[in-house]
Amino acid sequence: MSHSLGAADRQNPPDQTKHTVILDCCGGLNNVDYSEMDLTFLGGLRNYVDPHNSSFVLAVIAIIFNPLFWNLVARWEHHTRGLSRLFGSPYLACYCLGFVIILLNLYRSHSMTVAMKTQTRWTVLEGTEIFYAGVALMVFGTLLVVSSFLALGFTGTFLGDYFGILMDEKVTGFPFNITENPMYWGSTANYLGLALIGASPVGLVLTAIVAMVYSVAISFEGPFTEQIYEERKHHNKQE
Ligand SMILES: *[C@@H]1O[C@H](CO)[C@@H](O)[C@H](O)[C@H]1NC(C)=O
Repeated sequence: MSHSLGAADRQNPPDQTKHTVILDCCGGLNNVDYSEMDLTFLGGLRNYVDPHNSSFVLAVIAIIFNPLFWNLVARWEHHTRGLSRLFGSPYLACYCLGFVIILLNLYRSHSMTVAMKTQTRWTVLEGTEIFYAGVALMVFGTLLVVSSFLALGFTGTFLGDYFGILMDEKVTGFPFNITENPMYWGSTANYLGLALIGASPVGLVLTAIVAMVYSVAISFEGPFTEQIYEERKHHNKQE
C-alpha cells in the first residue's frame, strides 16, 4: 500500500499516528516502549519511503554506479595501462581519475540530499538525542575519511595501486587500526549521520544501500589489491 499512497497520506500514515502522539506529548524518546517501536520501525519505513520517486531512484543509481565505475576503470588501467598511456603518465592519469571520482561522489551526496528533502521527515527520528547521535556520527565519519586520506595520500586513496603507484608498505596506523576500510565506513557513517540529523527515513534506506554497495566493492577490491602487492613481491624476488 505504501507505493500508492499520495503525498498527503504519507504525511500522516494511519498506523504511525498513535506513536507520533506518544512521542510529541512526552517530548522525546525516553518514555517510549521500545519493543513497540521496533515493530513499527520497518512498517514505518515502508510508509515513509516512496521507492518510485525519481530523486530516490537517481540517488540509488548514483550509489551503485560510483564504485562500479571506479573499479571497472581502475581494473582496465591495471590490465592495459590505457589511462597511463592516454595521459602520458600514471600519476597524471591517477590524479584525473581521482578528480572524476570526487565529482561523482559530490553528485552522489547531492542526489541523496535532494532525495531526503523531497520525501517526508519521520517524527520518530526527531528527538534531540537522535539529532546529536547524527552529529557525532558525522564527526566520527569525517575523522575517518580525513585521517585515512592523510595516511594514504592522493594516489593511495584514489586507486594508485592499479596504476602501478604502490605504497612502500601497508599502512597500519590510525585509522587503519580501527577498520580495514576507513574511507568507506567513514563515508557510510557520514550518510547515516546526515539521515539522522534530517530525521529522514529515505536517508536511512539510502545509507543501507550505500553500506551494501560498499561491502560488495570491498569484497572485490580487497583481494585484487592484495594480488597487486603479491605480484610486486614476486617481481622484486626475481630481480
Ligand atoms: C589506533 O592508533 C591510534 C594512534 O596510534 C591509537 O591512539 C589508538 O588507540 C589505536 N586504536 C586501536 C583500537 O588500537
